Amino acid sequence: MKSTFALAGLAATATLTTVVYAKQQLEVSHEPLSGFFAADGTPSHPKFLASRWETSELPLDFRKRDISGAGSKRSDKACRSERGKQHAKDHHGQFKDRHSIRETLDHLGNTVSSWIEGGKMHDHSMGIVINKATDNSADNEWLVNVGFGTRAQKLKMVFDSGSSDTWVYSPACCYANNHTFFDPARSSTYHNRTVDASGNPQVAAAGTPGQAWSYSYGSGSTSNGYVGIDDFTFGQQRLKVEQLPLALITSITGGSRASRGMEGLVGLSSGSGSSTQGGWTTPFEAMSSRGQIAETYLTATLRKADRNTGKGGGGRYTFGEIDDELLDGNITWTRALSPYLWAGYFDQMTMGDTLLAKAPGTADRPQRFMIDTGSAVFYLPSPIVADINNQIKGSYVADQSSGLAFPYLVPCDTGLKHYERKAKNPTFNLQVGGTNFTIPKEDYVFYANEPIPPATIGGRKNMCYSAFQTGPAQISIIGLSFIKNHVVVLDQGGRNLTVSARRIGLGQRKDVRYE
Ligand SMILES: *[C@@H]1O[C@H](CO)[C@@H](O)[C@H](O)[C@H]1NC(C)=O
Ligand SMILES: *[C@@H]1O[C@H](CO)[C@@H](O)[C@H](O)[C@H]1NC(C)=O
Ligand SMILES: *[C@@H]1O[C@H](CO)[C@@H](O)[C@H](O)[C@H]1NC(C)=O
Ligand SMILES: *[C@@H]1O[C@H](CO)[C@@H](O)[C@H](O)[C@H]1NC(C)=O
Ligand SMILES: *[C@@H]1O[C@H](CO)[C@@H](O)[C@H](O)[C@H]1NC(C)=O
Repeated sequence: MKSTFALAGLAATATLTTVVYAKQQLEVSHEPLSGFFAADGTPSHPKFLASRWETSELPLDFRKRDISGAGSKRSDKACRSERGKQHAKDHHGQFKDRHSIRETLDHLGNTVSSWIEGGKMHDHSMGIVINKATDNSADNEWLVNVGFGTRAQKLKMVFDSGSSDTWVYSPACCYANNHTFFDPARSSTYHNRTVDASGNPQVAAAGTPGQAWSYSYGSGSTSNGYVGIDDFTFGQQRLKVEQLPLALITSITGGSRASRGMEGLVGLSSGSGSSTQGGWTTPFEAMSSRGQIAETYLTATLRKADRNTGKGGGGRYTFGEIDDELLDGNITWTRALSPYLWAGYFDQMTMGDTLLAKAPGTADRPQRFMIDTGSAVFYLPSPIVADINNQIKGSYVADQSSGLAFPYLVPCDTGLKHYERKAKNPTFNLQVGGTNFTIPKEDYVFYANEPIPPATIGGRKNMCYSAFQTGPAQISIIGLSFIKNHVVVLDQGGRNLTVSARRIGLGQRKDVRYE
């Protein structure tokens, strides 16, 4: 273990050059990137994504379900027995927690920990790192423990494949009393980062203010802070990735993330997509280019929460291998065509017999999709999302005055067996690389345990948010409503971080019943 870290240390002395190095490795793809996001032939910056944070936020009090509320008719017997079955199924496919750690020696005689999980041997020296994810807020966010700095300060982080910059709360921030924050004063490996006259990032001497950082999350909400550099540790401290950029938030204006369990966000898209001056290197890029993981894969295998309580979900993010524990069949691969995002082309998208979009796409029904673990639901171009919700029985579009987080609503019972016998909702289908991927109809509903207060929607009862909401016109954002039902693999394509070698892999799950 020591030897691995020593090697990592050598590489890390040149970390700031790594930032530049990674950028220089970016190739111009021969795929029609010109069509990607911008009309003028330039791959444009994924700025449009800024607004998705706003829409994925729900007010704190919304989670506290008012059981006495008139909205809930869900205690009837049929419904209860249906749920019973649901639970039995859910428990069926969970990861068997055979997890034993043992100490062994590596080839240099250093003690290393290896462990057995999911019937497979794992070893840090093999470069496979499992990050357990927890989900206690009705699939709104899965949180992963990540350590920062010397004697790693552990924070509950959102893994976001849709953005690049990692941020945490600083002690100076607004939410410091309510969230665990990162205290740079307690870390001897911490440095502020500055940018020199030619725009290159520099390690700053103590006492030098860090480079200013800010990020706007749609109208009204902006996070402000500064950039530092420190070590990140993943998977119960098994993998340390040294000297990476990290934004420390000092204030948030407008909007609020206080209601969320997250204590920060780990950016996992490409650093090249960062709008921060001096560039950015994500931990996934760094561990890949430095050879710290066996293979340059990140697998998301997320399990959903109990539909009734919104609690008990989990799963894991695995660096270094295709986590096939719950994989049913083979992974279907498609090229990641954007140098910034985990985005590619689907073949077609359908809802029952209705064609929503089809290769090569049109201006208002584009063929592009991106995998976004930072988005709770599907955010789709407006003509597509209107068609989908139209086909869900009993759907309703709330008007803006309702003050709801999302306009598209569906009956909370959508997808439940007794309900589907009458409703017969059509199947949503995303075809990628010739393979059809669907989601259980239950997951057409987001926050199924939280019916919308009827008073806000003209007295309509037992309505919930749809998992299909309006996103940018340019691309279909495939969020957690899809990801939690599949095995999703992001592949950097090797240590060189060559854009044209990047791939997205999708697979079906053994523990999910799609029909
Ligand atoms: C880093 O920069 C911030 C903001 O400019 C400043 O408050 C802090 O004291 C600096 N930290 C160090 C270690 O120099
Ligand atoms: C922090 O928590 C306290 C009480 O627990 C609450 O009054 C306050 O509003 C919270 N602050 C923020 C920024 O959410
Ligand atoms: C998976 O791929 C292997 C090798 O290409 C093939 O033999 C097998 O039939 C595939 N399995 C499925 C379920 O498609
Ligand atoms: C995929 O789904 C489409 C649309 O529902 C259907 O026409 C096609 O036959 C399916 N393909 C496969 C291989 O199942
Ligand atoms: C990675 O880059 C190095 C240096 O440019 C080159 O020698 C090597 O062949 C590349 N490897 C791959 C797999 O492209």
